[in-house]
Amino acid sequence: MGTILFPQHVIARKRDGAELSREEIDAFVRGATDGSWADYQLSALLMAVFLKGMSPGETAALTDAMMRSGVVADLSAIKMPKADKHSTGGVGDKVSIHLAPMVAACGVAVPMISGRGLGHTGGTVDKLESIPGFRMGLSIAQYSAEVARIGLSLICQTSELAPADRKLYALRDVTATVESIPLICASILSKKLAEGIDVLVLDVKHGSGAFMKDKARARELAVALTSVAKAMGKPARAVMTAMDEPLGHAVGNALEVAESIECLRGSGARDLMEVTYALGAQMLVLAGAAKDVPAATARLEASVSSGAALAKFRELLEAQGGDPRVVDDAARLPQARTRRPLASTATGFVARVDAMGVALAALRLGAGRAKAEDRVDHAVGLTCLVKVGDRVSAGDPLCVVHSNDERAHAEAQEMLESAIVVGTAPVRPPPLVGEVIG
Ligand code: URA
Repeated sequence: MGTILFPQHVIARKRDGAELSREEIDAFVRGATDGSWADYQLSALLMAVFLKGMSPGETAALTDAMMRSGVVADLSAIKMPKADKHSTGGVGDKVSIHLAPMVAACGVAVPMISGRGLGHTGGTVDKLESIPGFRMGLSIAQYSAEVARIGLSLICQTSELAPADRKLYALRDVTATVESIPLICASILSKKLAEGIDVLVLDVKHGSGAFMKDKARARELAVALTSVAKAMGKPARAVMTAMDEPLGHAVGNALEVAESIECLRGSGARDLMEVTYALGAQMLVLAGAAKDVPAATARLEASVSSGAALAKFRELLEAQGGDPRVVDDAARLPQARTRRPLASTATGFVARVDAMGVALAALRLGAGRAKAEDRVDHAVGLTCLVKVGDRVSAGDPLCVVHSNDERAHAEAQEMLESAIVVGTAPVRPPPLVGEVIG
């Protein structure tokens, strides 16, 4: 029988800057999962980690213990390579919806477990649930069977998966301990590595609409995520991308699904496709399905131009009960009662489309949730959103607002008027895709 580790002793050691042992980290995670540590003890250790940090070894041990606090999907019987992509979250970031079928159409399976939106960032689960009938609450067994059959499954987090993270994240949220790189790293990777993947690509965003505003901090997170994943035997790469303006032209759940379908039809927005190809190419290279980035990009482009990626998306909808007719007729997605353009009052060039401002306007319309228990309105949001550098004349639409509530519409419109800035000087959009780490 092992020695009993008292929570207060583990907390004191981290408080004094010591490196915790595997046994101490296991005791903490067990305490979070079975309730044997009180919330105040878990919170005290979270704060000690926040203040004193963790070594790479401790972070890997914490990630592993959190991952093993629940079910770890075993997809080893599936012979295709298995890759997933995780984004640290942005505005208008619908990449997963079209990227997953594109990669699957190139022969790399995509087992993807996604989250719901919270705060200003959207979630893939809310977006896909706007498709009539589409079910994301599959069990791990159903998910594994679907990956084996069609090379693709997109489901929502289940209570079976990394339960320690659920407990610890809820405590971090209310104890000012979210912004800690080892804690973020263990939280993200404990869920992603439980998916049964072989390799992982991370989209680490920085900028006004990102979780990490500062590029240097985002880079630190990217290094930590890729090193810990590697230490756990999963090759990983992170692509640094800017999130100062929303991705693509649509923000809002059903509206983003419609935009993803456009991407699969070959008419995706330039910025959105740039990020999609950058991430998808890393997935194919890391999974061994392409020799380098240009070859991988060519394969992904062919999956779109041949219609194979769109066909794979249709298969996904059919497999999870969604109405496949939305692929040909976006009007089958939920529609808002009113759609009104917001006109520019100036002639010139779009200087700024502040991602955070746009996200808050979409949140006000009802597209997101301020608290975990809020309901989202799948139909509302924005389309035809201008991009930085676009030339506009007074009276031209800066975006179209889709709303179901007059007061929310008026408030969102005011927020958009501040978020979108038109200046007189031509503007060159800043680079979107940056360094690849790992
Ligand atoms: N996303 C997560 O899943 N966990 C974090 O800690 C931060 C972002």
